[in-house]
Amino acid sequence: MKASAPGKIILFGEHAVVYSRPALAVPVTQVHVDVEVLDSPRKGIWIHSQGIDLHAELNSLPADHPVGSVILNLFSTLKISSLPALDISIDSTIPVAAGLGSGAAVSVALIRALALHLSHPLTDEQINDLVYEIEKLHHGTPSGIDNTVITYAKPVYFTKGRPMETFNVGKPFTIVIGDTGIPAPTKESVGDLRRLWLRNTNYFESIFNEIAQISLIARRSIESGKPELLGDFMDHNHSLLQEMTISSPELDKLVSAARNAGALGAKLSGSGRGGNMIALVDQAKAESVAGALISAGAKRAIITEIK
Ligand code: MEV
Repeated sequence: MKASAPGKIILFGEHAVVYSRPALAVPVTQVHVDVEVLDSPRKGIWIHSQGIDLHAELNSLPADHPVGSVILNLFSTLKISSLPALDISIDSTIPVAAGLGSGAAVSVALIRALALHLSHPLTDEQINDLVYEIEKLHHGTPSGIDNTVITYAKPVYFTKGRPMETFNVGKPFTIVIGDTGIPAPTKESVGDLRRLWLRNTNYFESIFNEIAQISLIARRSIESGKPELLGDFMDHNHSLLQEMTISSPELDKLVSAARNAGALGAKLSGSGRGGNMIALVDQAKAESVAGALISAGAKRAIITEIK
């Protein structure tokens, strides 16, 4: 059985979403994880992943291995005690630790393919709940937005602890994603912000409220077919993320380069410090903004149409 999962970007509201403010995220289908599960002629569960040079039997992996723990978690949920003989191939074009949700996408595609192969098909809701539990093992206190957008592969308006809402894109728009190439350590940036918030709660709460307003208005602009309004909201959200100490000189440099090359607005996206930034562009300017990002030091630039 085969299954896939896309990458993701957060358009608005990263970090504030951990404090129960709404955030907007969309799938990025140009990059994806593809998993194939086959019955194996030899004993054991063999995992092959060219990208991370992994060719190993499940039992030889450390207990907290991200792939091994997903498989064992699923077997325990499905109450499967005798392990079948399987060959599992994992291929991914999602850059690792870049804030595009590669870990959550591996979990979603792996669970979906395995559950289908074992004739225990799961609903998106069940997959999402399982992947959220796995995200908690690796990231401490995730909001759940990454696993949700990747599981449903639709634009989501997400508020922690509330039922997930998808939203419609009234008019397609183009985003250029620039990758600093610097790992984006979610656990650390979320932890640092928590310490600052504990010391100065009122100040950060008011920033989070401003971000919540941006997410709300941005959703309306997208739904009503006025994506050109998002540029200013992106700039504003980025300056709030800077105040939250979530940006970095490398991200700021890419954000400025995008704006100077004619983007309508730009901001960091995801956990920050490293990882990605995003820029809203007229389609005709997408290539030149992508080129400007590479000239300013981006390791890669991805042009994606949000629809
Ligand atoms: C990471 O992609 C998004 C953060 O808001 C963390 C989270 O929501 O769990 C930084």
